Amino acid sequence: MNMEESVLNRRSVRSFLPKPVSRDVITGIMEKARWAPSWGNTQPWEIVVADGAKARELAVAFENEGKKGTPPRPDIPVPTDFPEIFRNRYIGLGRDLLTYMGIERDDKEARKQHYLNMYRFFGAPAVIYLLIDQEMNIPYSCLDIGSIGTTICYLALKEGLGTIYLAASMHFPDIVRRVLSIPESKKLVIGIAIGYPHPTDKASLFRSHRAPVDEFLRFAE
Ligand SMILES: Cc1cc2nc3c(=O)[nH]c(=O)nc-3n(C[C@H](O)[C@H](O)[C@H](O)COP(=O)(O)O)c2cc1C
Repeated sequence: MNMEESVLNRRSVRSFLPKPVSRDVITGIMEKARWAPSWGNTQPWEIVVADGAKARELAVAFENEGKKGTPPRPDIPVPTDFPEIFRNRYIGLGRDLLTYMGIERDDKEARKQHYLNMYRFFGAPAVIYLLIDQEMNIPYSCLDIGSIGTTICYLALKEGLGTIYLAASMHFPDIVRRVLSIPESKKLVIGIAIGYPHPTDKASLFRSHRAPVDEFLRFAE
């Protein structure tokens, strides 16, 4: 798969096979991903992978919080109030995804199961947590986390793997810290679930929309 094919074929995978991802494969991805650009070459990322029993322990703990309806308490706040154009896209994504999966708008139980499934990381056998030291300027270092994170997603494709950035995977950072032995001084920016995509499940195959280029690009005159 060449560069262009990778960019056009990557999608967020929301249903994974239980097949484990070998640590050698993940390490191989990181060997290449570390060449991602960062501000001043600071490479501020720290990466902790939850796989095997640790991934399962996290999934159980997150699902329990979901069942209790515990409000998320991420290290880095998730936007709640934002301009209409972006809100419409956000709402549109949820609507399109659930429709594609055959979940009716008023089917509260099916929707709840979808969100609990998200807290089980959609069955992914591993979650890659991207952390930064709290003494780094957090908004700024998030640029660098995005840089390496997306590089990881593209490299994973070449190994036949699927990924999804999951804000939900850092909703309860204290649990992640306890299970993965991460000190308080490290802030959780985002987790990326990784695994082998389910070949037929609709949650694995869904494609999101994009705005046309003329909606976001202009050449300054
Ligand atoms: C920072 C970030 C956090 C995300 N968190 C979630 C999440 O918690 N749950 C989810 O289903 N998708 C999540 N996504 C995936 C986005 O919904 C997805 O990237 C977007 O809809 C575009 O679709 P695509 O990745 O399939 O192209 C997240 C993506 C990013 C970049």
